[in-house]
Amino acid sequence: MSITMRHLLNIIIVLCVGLNWGCTEGTQEREVDSHTILVSSLFPSSSSSCVISPKASNTKSSLHVVHRHGPCSPHSSGNVESTDQDDILRRDQERVNSIHSKLSKKLTDRVKPSQSTDLPAKDGSTIGSANYIVTIGIGTPKHDLSLIFDTGSDLTWIQCGPCAAGSCYLQKEPIFNPSSSSSYANVSCSSPVCASLTSAGIGRECLAPNCFYGIEYADNSSSVGFLGKEKFTLTNSVVFDGVNFGCGIDNHGHFHGVAGLLGLGRTKLSFPSQTATTYNNIFSYCLPSSASFTGHLTFGSVGISNSVKFTPISSTGFASFYGIDIVGISVGDKKLEIPLTVLSTPGGIIDSGTVITRLPPKAYEALRTAFKEKMSNYKATLGRPRLDTCYDFTGLATVTVPKISFLFNGGAVVDLGAVGVLYGYDISRVCLAFAGNSNDGDAAIFGNVQQKTMQVVYDGPGNRVGFAPNGCN
Ligand SMILES: *[C@@H]1O[C@H](CO)[C@@H](O)[C@H](O)[C@H]1NC(C)=O
Ligand SMILES: *[C@@H]1O[C@H](CO)[C@@H](O)[C@H](O)[C@H]1NC(C)=O
Repeated sequence: MSITMRHLLNIIIVLCVGLNWGCTEGTQEREVDSHTILVSSLFPSSSSSCVISPKASNTKSSLHVVHRHGPCSPHSSGNVESTDQDDILRRDQERVNSIHSKLSKKLTDRVKPSQSTDLPAKDGSTIGSANYIVTIGIGTPKHDLSLIFDTGSDLTWIQCGPCAAGSCYLQKEPIFNPSSSSSYANVSCSSPVCASLTSAGIGRECLAPNCFYGIEYADNSSSVGFLGKEKFTLTNSVVFDGVNFGCGIDNHGHFHGVAGLLGLGRTKLSFPSQTATTYNNIFSYCLPSSASFTGHLTFGSVGISNSVKFTPISSTGFASFYGIDIVGISVGDKKLEIPLTVLSTPGGIIDSGTVITRLPPKAYEALRTAFKEKMSNYKATLGRPRLDTCYDFTGLATVTVPKISFLFNGGAVVDLGAVGVLYGYDISRVCLAFAGNSNDGDAAIFGNVQQKTMQVVYDGPGNRVGFAPNGCN
């Protein structure tokens, strides 16, 4: 480039900055500040084909993550429970309420007498709408069982037969029977693992010599049973002996045909903590953009992107949760004016099981106002419970929505993927996929719609959570 050309460019740049000429209205900038998406990508494809993530197939410590409803689910041919969107969001709110109550119990629990012998402990957790599942081999010979994966709890549990002593809900795979597994062992009351149930917020009882656990969820779902040890097979070449887990003999509730739950929380009872000598308590996952794709859950640091941006994990009132602090939000090119205390006072967590991101009321209102401004070309329509900013996209093939980015403590700026902004009921009702909490003091929850397609990294030893774009389809 000649000196004169460069000189000229410099002048233009200076003019843009100095005169606020609206240079950001140029096409290049507009692409950066918004996403243009196919309206059809907001809904599960009607085709019955599943696109498998190459990542999970090529990495030994990787599992396929599938949406519970849809062509990739091992249950898709069966009698799937309601996919009614209002129902999913009602369960989502139950989960949010239980998270908030766990976080706020911090002080009152300290003054209450220990309830560790009450079984089950009503811990107020809820399974929510349980969207994402993985399949793990358990026992010898191994049984492949599909489990809800959950970063908000620690104890992995499955239904154990025979269910004669208690009760089992319907599940798709045959029920695991510990007496026909040569690698099963009971955990005794005197084991420190039994004591660790309490710090993970789970009820326990000693019926010597066995340690019993009990979890009751806010929607009256529950699992009660033996604390056991078993062989867990992730992939054919990756096997762990002696993983502590709950062998549930009395199980009730809304688990939608899955065999149980994989606990990925922060205490030493969680699966990542128990496999820390191999994987160093590091794992990552990617939730697919729609039910027609698989994502992955990968243990260890293999495959972690170079472009991950990390934020420190903060401690919360509940030991299992991964606390993260949102310090700012931008819509398009504009950083919202949210007083820092609005976000810092209640704090926040990241949760794989909450669907819609919850924000403190004032932060949500600022987001909604800015979003509506950018969406003023589209036809607004009535909202639904909890989602109050909706549009009718009938007749449109593509829509352009503002990019939303979150600024986390430590300076990580995370642009949400194109599928992390909207929640589609149907083409005549597509809504901003965020909701406000009802109280200023309730924590923000970074939910799974917003996490879609990002690689989300949980680094235990580094005490940090990170995000990178384009982790999966
Ligand atoms: C575990 O304890 C139960 C109840 O006492 C017993 O029936 C079962 O045989 C035990 N399993 C093993 C493998 O010891
Ligand atoms: C759970 O059970 C209790 C007592 O039976 C009942 O009052 C409550 O409404 C139930 N909650 C749900 C969410 O079903």
